[in-house]
Amino acid sequence: MIKKIIVAPSLLAANFASLNEDIQRIQQAGADWLHYDIMDGHFVPNISFGVPIVQAVSRQHTLFNDVHLMIEHPEAYIDAFVQAGANLITFHIEATQTELQTFAVINLIKKNGVKVGISIKPHTDVSILNPYLGQIDLILVMTVEPGFGGQAFIESTLEKVKLCKQIRTEKKYHYLIEVDGGINDLTGKRCVDAGADILVAGSYLFGKNDIPTRIKKLKNE
Ligand code: DX5
Ligand code: ZN
Repeated sequence: MIKKIIVAPSLLAANFASLNEDIQRIQQAGADWLHYDIMDGHFVPNISFGVPIVQAVSRQHTLFNDVHLMIEHPEAYIDAFVQAGANLITFHIEATQTELQTFAVINLIKKNGVKVGISIKPHTDVSILNPYLGQIDLILVMTVEPGFGGQAFIESTLEKVKLCKQIRTEKKYHYLIEVDGGINDLTGKRCVDAGADILVAGSYLFGKNDIPTRIKKLKNE
């Protein structure tokens, strides 16, 4: 069975002076999702963009709106991102302190009828997600330290992708596996071979003059 690979360009790498043009370009080039890297300058040492940008662009295209919250206190912003047009909201397990709080964020996202994902940084063990795996739609395995685009892929994260796939098979869970950071045609293929379903790519796609070809390479077409 040929596996469908989902490509999710990261808006972080887009030209912010002409966002809509860039979004239309990657939609026409065959992208499936649009990945919004929300950064608050506290959880990660960078500030990217927030609700107003998601609000402004999320309904200007037909891509699936994949919102990645690299922020402290994600629970405080779920409603705002849902209203802004998020179809999936992923928060970081490192941004919640207790299981109770983590389940509260999961339930807050789900009660809004939006898909829920949890992300783990490169050095966070997959096992920390065990209590939640039956309740979530996606695991986002960070393949770079969150905070900036254009970083080099971290090899050791491939083992985590494999483990996520193994657990899903063994436990018959339904979550998808997404990878984010340093993804290009070479690292993307390795992640897909390890079990990734969705590839987030920023600098590999935006600003390039052969985006359709690059998306086809990521999809192994
Ligand atoms: C890290 C960001 C990046 C970005 C993609 O916090 O989440 O991973 O989306 O960056 P590239 O594809 O340029 O490495
Ligand atoms: Zn991201």
